Amino acid sequence: MPQRRINTSIMATKVIIKNNGPIRLEGEFELFDENGNQFNTEGKTAISLCRCGQSSKSPFCDGTHKSCGFSSTVEAA
Ligand code: FES
Repeated sequence: MPQRRINTSIMATKVIIKNNGPIRLEGEFELFDENGNQFNTEGKTAISLCRCGQSSKSPFCDGTHKSCGFSSTVEAA
């Protein structure tokens, strides 16, 4: 298994769960698969991660949630 290279000095990241849509990350972040392989998000300050399971660019949202009938609303309690 590859060595994880998690940067522990990461600045604040805002995570937004979009109703009927993706998970939006804003700020500084690093993204890995379960094997510790890093996705190239260099230079990005915002990304959307698929929550509907239908994206052809998984784990990133490609907008398919708008046409596949995905429905999930969440509200912080
Ligand atoms: S949440 Fe956008 S394609 Fe899945």
